[in-house]
Amino acid sequence: MADRVVLAVDQGTTSTRSIVFDRGGRLVSVRQREHRQYFPRPGWVEHDPMEIWANTQRTAAQALRDAASSAGEVVALGIANQRETTVVWDRATGRPVTRAIVWQDTRTADLVSRLAARPDAAVVRERSGMDIAGYFAGPRLRWVLDHVPRARERAEAGELLFGTMETWLVWNLTGGPDGGVHVTDVTNASRTSLMDCRSCTWDPVLLDFFGIPAALLPEIRPSVGELGTATALGSPIPITGTLGDQQAALFGQACFAPGEAKCTYGTGSFLLQNTGTELVRTRSGSISTVAYQLAGEPVHYALEGSVAVAGALVQWLRDGLGLIGTAPEIETLARTVEDNGGCYVVPAFSGLLAPHWRGEARGLVAGLTSYVTKGHLARAVLEATGWQTRDVVLAMAADSGLQLPSLRVDGGMTTNNLLMQFVADVLDTPVVRPMVGETVSLGAAYAAGLAVGLWADVEALRRNWHRSAQWSPVPARAAQLAAEHPTWEKAVRLSIAWGA
Ligand code: G3P
Repeated sequence: MADRVVLAVDQGTTSTRSIVFDRGGRLVSVRQREHRQYFPRPGWVEHDPMEIWANTQRTAAQALRDAASSAGEVVALGIANQRETTVVWDRATGRPVTRAIVWQDTRTADLVSRLAARPDAAVVRERSGMDIAGYFAGPRLRWVLDHVPRARERAEAGELLFGTMETWLVWNLTGGPDGGVHVTDVTNASRTSLMDCRSCTWDPVLLDFFGIPAALLPEIRPSVGELGTATALGSPIPITGTLGDQQAALFGQACFAPGEAKCTYGTGSFLLQNTGTELVRTRSGSISTVAYQLAGEPVHYALEGSVAVAGALVQWLRDGLGLIGTAPEIETLARTVEDNGGCYVVPAFSGLLAPHWRGEARGLVAGLTSYVTKGHLARAVLEATGWQTRDVVLAMAADSGLQLPSLRVDGGMTTNNLLMQFVADVLDTPVVRPMVGETVSLGAAYAAGLAVGLWADVEALRRNWHRSAQWSPVPARAAQLAAEHPTWEKAVRLSIAWGA
């Protein structure tokens, strides 16, 4: 008899993927659709929630159809989503009141500066676990309430609903205006700046600080557990797992013990280290965040180093400068030279996130001489991702005191051997990549499958993790890069000063 399977939806920044996984964590079928990116003004980034909902239905239906002949019953649906992207919609019609404001969007910069200057601003760090920053969803929600006509009044009257993408999709999947379930999971809620990070409930003091009416907020639920039944995909499927995509990757990489860490190299790079059931308060520029929660169990926390631009810098080399035709060609170009030729690139296209949190920083290329070729520039572009990884690892080590025994990696850039070796050397730590590279979807599938007993416990998931590649640090190179680190730091300081 065919095995039972799980459907996972990975609603990411650039596309929506639906994947069916079997009990071995193997991929049975996959479908993907990109959605349009809207850039209505400099620094603004928007998505159309209706397009994303349509893409979710379409890819899910296709993936289920593709799997139908080989796979058995679909026992659960899990969702992982781009985090902090903010949707507000009309409860009665299901129509968004404006396009979704994406996590990369910087329109709240002035609002955030004003809020940060308030004498009571310390409550945000104290209660949410994070400093005030435009990266999180709370300020975006406030922006919608301040700028969309009648939004505040309608929110207070209970006519509007807020959610990040998983909330929007779960509500639609479970019936939309006809009884849709309005919920978020604890990992996504932890990215709003509105949740008390210890009790994991909406915090009235934070709601008051950001000026958010409680009436439009979803109910906070564990990441693993029953949320509702998806009725919009043909046969009913229980939705039993939801996680922010980076937390999903941590789950999919089986980082269940304190100290275990993963880094996902996509458009940006996101390094999360499990810190166990105790919240580690950050003082060094990483983020204290929720890693996951199984229903009825304590919350597990993580420290996170979020870097906005990683793969996006390679795209810029390809699309902005035309120096390469495809992303993988960067490795070939970088290998035409021995080193960076003294050249450094700081990709602060829309400021710097962790560990600097300087929205005003701007990108720069430093150290140019007539010796520098496009090969050196390609190397500097790859190295920028490695240096940024080092910066967040140092910040997290200062916060947690936890060692990084090895770093599990995933995402498109991990096929770049030159970069992965650089990361191993610059961290002086082994870097390992698993067999299943779709860790975000796999994490969502694991969460959903755990809740319905497809896997007995997290140890069963751990046994599914298999290594496909490893890069070990070369001691002499690691020492050389440690000596070079101050030069990179100088370039970062310049990029901050440039935008100031
Ligand atoms: O915090 C933003 C992050 O969740 C986006 O991830 O993979 O959709 O770019 P991704």
